[in-house]
Amino acid sequence: MNTEIERETSLANQSQDRFPPGGLAIVVGAKGAIGHAFLSLLGNDDDFAEVAGLSRYGEYPLDLDDEATIARAAVRLSAVGAPLRLVLDATGFLHDDDFMPEKTWSSLDPAHLTRSFAANAIGPAMVAPARGETSPHHN
Ligand SMILES: NC(=O)c1ccc[n+]([C@@H]2O[C@H](COP(=O)([O-])OP(=O)(O)OC[C@H]3O[C@@H](n4cnc5c(N)ncnc54)[C@H](OP(=O)(O)O)[C@@H]3O)[C@@H](O)[C@H]2O)c1
Repeated sequence: MNTEIERETSLANQSQDRFPPGGLAIVVGAKGAIGHAFLSLLGNDDDFAEVAGLSRYGEYPLDLDDEATIARAAVRLSAVGAPLRLVLDATGFLHDDDFMPEKTWSSLDPAHLTRSFAANAIGPAMVAPARGETSPHHN
């Protein structure tokens, strides 16, 4: 029985997808709780030659509400030279001093919803097209 489990575990380990070595990984929202944890994790991963953390106030400033900053970050990251292998978006907006999460239908607020969609849906979607510029070899 143990031998069977060992064999299955071994097969599972062998079949785990790995990234081709020497690539670039990007973490968007790298100063947030989740982004920072992924940045540390990927920094210790030998699969990547370079791991870049993006945030609004960092080395590669990127504000999801400002498309121009996304394009600028993509162009700057293309200068790294390593092929882009992974984009991990750990950004998000739930609430701030002005807006708290809605608990009833009546507290739905158009301004809050607009802000939430911009930060949680539209902004991250706009990061995807920038991948083309970040990956000089498109692979
Ligand atoms: N932590 C959890 O247990 C948990 C559980 C379930 C779901 N989530 C969700 O997962 C997401 C990340 O969680 P978290 O705990 O890591 O949140 P967090 O610590 O508040 O981090 C949010 C990140 O989003 C970035 N961000 C927000 N608006 C942005 C914008 N307009 N442009 C660029 N970056 C922007 C922030 O960047 P700056 O550093 O530049 O401010 C920050 O790095 C959130 O949506 C959260 O609701 C978290």
